[in-house]
Amino acid sequence: MSAVVLIGAQWGDEGKGKITDYMAEKADLVVRYQGGNNAGHTVVVGDEEYKLHLIPSGILYPNTLCVIGNSVVVDIEILFKEIDELIRRGVDVSNLRISDRAHVIMPYHRKLDELQEEGKGANKIGTTKRGIGPAYVDKSSRIGIRMIDLLDREVFERKLEANLQEKNLLFTKVYGVEGFRTEDIVAQFEPYIERIKPFITDTSIVVNDSVDRGDNVLFEGAQGTLLDLDHGTYPFVTSSHPIAGGACIGAGIGPTKIGKVYGVVKAYTTRVGAGPFPTELFDAIGERIRKEGHEFGTTTGRPRRCGWFDAVIVRYSVRMSGLTGIALTKLDVLDKLEEIKICHGYDYRGRILKDFPASLKALEECKPIYEVMDGWKEDTTQARTFEELPVNAQKYVRRIEELTGVKAVIVAVGPKRDQTIVREELF
Ligand code: GDP
Ligand code: IMO
Ligand code: MG
Repeated sequence: MSAVVLIGAQWGDEGKGKITDYMAEKADLVVRYQGGNNAGHTVVVGDEEYKLHLIPSGILYPNTLCVIGNSVVVDIEILFKEIDELIRRGVDVSNLRISDRAHVIMPYHRKLDELQEEGKGANKIGTTKRGIGPAYVDKSSRIGIRMIDLLDREVFERKLEANLQEKNLLFTKVYGVEGFRTEDIVAQFEPYIERIKPFITDTSIVVNDSVDRGDNVLFEGAQGTLLDLDHGTYPFVTSSHPIAGGACIGAGIGPTKIGKVYGVVKAYTTRVGAGPFPTELFDAIGERIRKEGHEFGTTTGRPRRCGWFDAVIVRYSVRMSGLTGIALTKLDVLDKLEEIKICHGYDYRGRILKDFPASLKALEECKPIYEVMDGWKEDTTQARTFEELPVNAQKYVRRIEELTGVKAVIVAVGPKRDQTIVREELF
C-alpha cells in the first residue's frame, strides 16, 4: 500500500516539514490532517527557507497535490498571507485543496485564546495564541463555522450572529473587554471569500480516489504525540489529534487504507510551552544544543526547552501510532558533544517505569534513568549513507532502534534536502 502517515513522535518540531518535503518528491498527494497555524514546518531548499503553518509541506513540488483536511482549523487571513508569500516566491499554489468541512478560526477565537491564557496566570499552557483551542471548543460544542458556511452569506451571517450573542457576553461580562460586531467580521472576511472558493471541495473524495488509484499519498501530521489531546501530557497539549489515528478522521479515510506510519524523532528532545519534561537540561549542554540546533520556535520565536533523547516517550509514540519506522533528525546537532545520554526509563519513587505515566504529578517526580554513550566528535553533515556516519554515531542510532523497537528508516544530518540518509523504500 502506498499511503504513509508521518507524525511527530515527541512534543512537535521534530523536523516533519523537512521529511515531508523530502518524501513529497515522490508523492502524488500530501494531506495535512489536524491542527492549524500553531504549527510551523520548515523546509529548506538550497539557500531558500520556507516556514509553512497551514499549507502542506508538499507545496514546493508543482506536481504534488496538497490537501488541507477536514480536522484542520483554518485562519483564512493567515492562509492567504501564506499563499501570497508563496506566490511572491514563485511557488504555484493551484494544486491546493481545502476541505469544505474544515472549521474556521474566527477573530474572537484568537482573542479568547489570549484572554484565557492570561487568566490562567502561573498555570498557563503556553499556547501559540492562534485561537486553536477556542476554535476546536466551538467545533465540539457544535457551533463552529465551517468552510462550506463561508460560501453562503446568509448561513455565515446567521451562524456568526448566534456565536457573537454568546461570545460578546463572555467578553463584556466576564473579561471586561469589548466584543465583536457581525458586520465588522463579515467585512473583514469579504475579500477572502471569493478567493477561497476555488480551493474548497470535498477533500475526502480527493484523498480516497488518490489512494484507490495506488498513488503515493502522504499524511503530514502537525505537533506531536505528547501534544495529543487524549494521549499527550494533558492539559499541556494542543486541542487536536496528532497521532496516526488522527489522519483517518482528519482526512476522511478508513484505517484499512493506511500502509506505513513513520514517526519523526529528533536525536534529542525539545518542547515549547509549559508542562513536565523529564530529560530537560538546565545546564550549559542544554544551552549548547539550543544554539547548535537553532532551537527557537518557528511560529512564536520562543526558545525551545532542550533535553536528552527519551526512549520512554518514543516507545509510547510507537504504541500510540503503530509506528513502522522512525525518521531520526538533527543527528548532526550532537556532532561536537563528548558524551551523549539516552533515557531508557524513569525512576518514580524508587520504582522503575518503562511506560509513560498518565499522572502529570507523577511525571514531574520521574527522574530519568540514563545510559551514557561516547560522542563521535566528527562532522556528520556530509554523510549520505549509514556507513559514512562515524562509528559512534551508527552505534547511537542502533541503540535508539533497540530501545524503541523500530528501524530508523531515515537519518537526517542537516536541514537541506540532500542531507538525508534513506535506509529503505519509503512508499
Ligand atoms: P516541524 O515543526 O516538525 O516541521 O519542525 P520545525 O521546522 O519547527 O523545526 C525543525 C528545525 O530543524 C527546522 O529549522 C529545520 O530546518 C531543522 N532541521 C530539520 N532536520 C534537520 C537536521 O537533520 N539537522 C539540522 N541541523 N536541522 C534540521
Ligand atoms: P509543529 O507542527 C511545538 C504547543 C504550544 C503549547 C501547546 C498548546 O510545528 O510541531 P496551542 O496553540 O496548540 O493551543 O498550544 O502546544 N504547540 C507546539 N509545540 N510544535 C508545534 O507544532 C506546536 N503546536 C502547538 O507551544 O505548548
Ligand atoms: Mg514546528
